[in-house]
Amino acid sequence: MSQTPPPQILDGKGLSERIKDEIASEVTEWTGQGHRAPHLAAVLVGEDGASKTYVDHKVRSCERVGFKSTMVLRPADISQRELLDIVHGLNEDPNIDGFIVQLPLPNHIDAQAITEAIDPTKDVDGFHPVNIGNLALGLPGFVPATPAGIITLLERFEVPTEGRHAVVIGRSSIVGTPMSLLLSRSGQPGNCTVTLCHSRTQDLQEHCLQADILIAAVGRPEMIKADMVKEGAVVVDVGITRVKDVTAKRGYRLRGDVAYDEVAPKCSWITPVPGGVGPMTIVSLLRNTLLAAKAKAEA
Ligand SMILES: NC(=O)c1ccc[n+]([C@@H]2O[C@H](COP(=O)([O-])OP(=O)(O)OC[C@H]3O[C@@H](n4cnc5c(N)ncnc54)[C@H](OP(=O)(O)O)[C@@H]3O)[C@@H](O)[C@H]2O)c1
Repeated sequence: MSQTPPPQILDGKGLSERIKDEIASEVTEWTGQGHRAPHLAAVLVGEDGASKTYVDHKVRSCERVGFKSTMVLRPADISQRELLDIVHGLNEDPNIDGFIVQLPLPNHIDAQAITEAIDPTKDVDGFHPVNIGNLALGLPGFVPATPAGIITLLERFEVPTEGRHAVVIGRSSIVGTPMSLLLSRSGQPGNCTVTLCHSRTQDLQEHCLQADILIAAVGRPEMIKADMVKEGAVVVDVGITRVKDVTAKRGYRLRGDVAYDEVAPKCSWITPVPGGVGPMTIVSLLRNTLLAAKAKAEA
């Protein structure tokens, strides 16, 4: 009886360290030419534990590659006006190459208005309508960090995409929608036939079973079960949810959207959670910041 070969792991953690080495070398070369180090600022509003962890990782990664970083911390009751003033200040600051406003923001803040206030040339998260529009048109611009990281993961592990059927679950403007644009564009990786699913999709299982490449970006722990995955599929798990677990040191465990243990044996490639997409998101942010610094210096 023929046996399915064990899945190959899309090891984002290991790959991200190699790419950080590459970025660090580029920074050394850049500063060696007399330029100052790229400078990323991160605005964090409130006390959300997960957001704090993400921003800490981003700042530590800046240090690792030789960037300068600045954290702007504000309480959850900051007003829309005060936050807009911070964004305008960062837009005007010649020493800042790029910045992010960590999402989610408190409910009383209009997150879309904040995103739209960011100078698109400093929008290294790639969330500004100008950058999303450029992505949709295939023009140069900042690509949202998580989908860009997934594309790099597929590229570096030489996962074939051309002509494959990709199913993306989740249509958010920061993950699912840009992911579907990147996979369907004419390019490598790309040239997929893409189906975009969401909460109103009927027969989600039927769609998933058609996928050569399945990207889950929902935020519902372990919703993708083995009976939803085709034999030999490539599975990329974007979801990260903190699930309470009293036996864990921190009192919770991170869970992806994919029931890894039952799904992995059916896959040709799969991302783990943690250690898959998350670290790749951070390297994309670093890459965007380096691009922003270079574009600014050359303007
Ligand atoms: N690894 C990373 O670096 C990284 C980065 C960003 C996000 N994430 C994680 O990725 C997940 C998604 O993030 P997000 O910001 O895109 O979330 P989001 O804005 O909440 O979007 C979730 C999407 O999933 C869809 N959905 C919800 N329930 C569904 C169901 N039962 N069946 C099919 N689709 C369903 C929603 O559909 P509707 O549009 O119809 O509501 C929506 O499009 C979260 O766990 C987040 O923490 C990870």
